[in-house]
Amino acid sequence: MNEPFEPAWTTELAAPLRSIGVEFSDFVPAPNQLATDLYEVENEAFDRRGAVLDAMRTIAPWAGRTLLDLGCGTGYWFQHYAEAAELIGVEPDDRLLPAAKARATDVRVLRGSAEHIPLPDASVDVVHARFAYFFPPECDAGLAEVMRVLRPSGTLVVVDNDLRRGEFADLVVASPWAAAQGQAASTDEWWAAHGADRSEVMSDWTFETRADMEAVLRLELPADIVDPWLDDHRDRTSISYGYVLFAVDKEVTDKAESLVGQRLL
Ligand SMILES: C[S@@+](CC[C@H](N)C(=O)[O-])C[C@H]1O[C@@H](n2cnc3c(N)ncnc32)[C@H](O)[C@@H]1O
Repeated sequence: MNEPFEPAWTTELAAPLRSIGVEFSDFVPAPNQLATDLYEVENEAFDRRGAVLDAMRTIAPWAGRTLLDLGCGTGYWFQHYAEAAELIGVEPDDRLLPAAKARATDVRVLRGSAEHIPLPDASVDVVHARFAYFFPPECDAGLAEVMRVLRPSGTLVVVDNDLRRGEFADLVVASPWAAAQGQAASTDEWWAAHGADRSEVMSDWTFETRADMEAVLRLELPADIVDPWLDDHRDRTSISYGYVLFAVDKEVTDKAESLVGQRLL
C-alpha cells in the first residue's frame, strides 16, 4: 500500500493551522498553500494562451460587473480581472491575506470562506472559484452561500482539473492525490445534479525553465510519480493540462428551488 503523500512542509503547516481559520470549519488548506513563490511560478505557467480565461469570460462576462474571486489565495488572478467594475477577493487563510491585499489597491480583499462570505445578499454578478473549496460532494453549504450573494442574473464559475484529459491528469490519477481530488464521474454527477453546465478546456503548463517545471511538478505530486515522467520527457518545459469548468446560474438554481417548493421536481 502507498504511504500517504506528505509534502515536506506538511508538519510545518499543521501546527499553525490549528490556530487559524477556526471559525471557518470549511477551510481546507491545499498542501502547496505556503509555497507561495513556487505557486506564483505555477500560476505564471498556467495556460499562457489564456484559453481558460477566455472560456470563463464567455460563460460569464465580468466587464462592468461585480466579480468575486472566492479562495483568491495571494490574489494572482486579480490582474486578469481588470475589466470588472468591482473586484472582491475572499480568502480564509490569514497567512495569504496580506499578499492578496498588497497585490492591488483597488481590490476589496476580505477574510471569509465559501460557506461564510462576508457580503450582502444579491451583491455580486460573477463568482470565480479556481481550485478552491468546490471539490464535491460536500459542497452544498458553499453553493448555497454563493447563490445567496449572487444577483438574479449571476453565475458561479468553478475551475477544476480535468482528470480524464492531458498528461498532468495521467500523473494525478496515478498518484495518492487521486482519492482527494475525487473521481471525475462522481464530480460530474454532483455538478449535473446541481444544475451546472460543464465545459472542457485543453491547455498546458509552459515554464520558462526546466528547473521551474521540475520544482512545480514536485510541489504538486510525489517524486515517485513525477520523476519517471521527467526522465521520459527530458527536453520538455511544458506539460499538457486539461481543465473542466462548471457553471451554475443563479436563475437555474432559483427555478429548481421553486419547482421543489411546488413539489414539481
Ligand atoms: C490551490 S489554492 C488556489 C488559489 C487561487 N484561487 C489560485 O487559483 O491561484 C486554494 C485556495 O482555496 C482556499 N480555500 C481553502 N478552503 C476554502 C474555503 N472553504 N473557502 C474558500 N477558499 C478556501 C485556500 O486558502 C487557497 O487560497
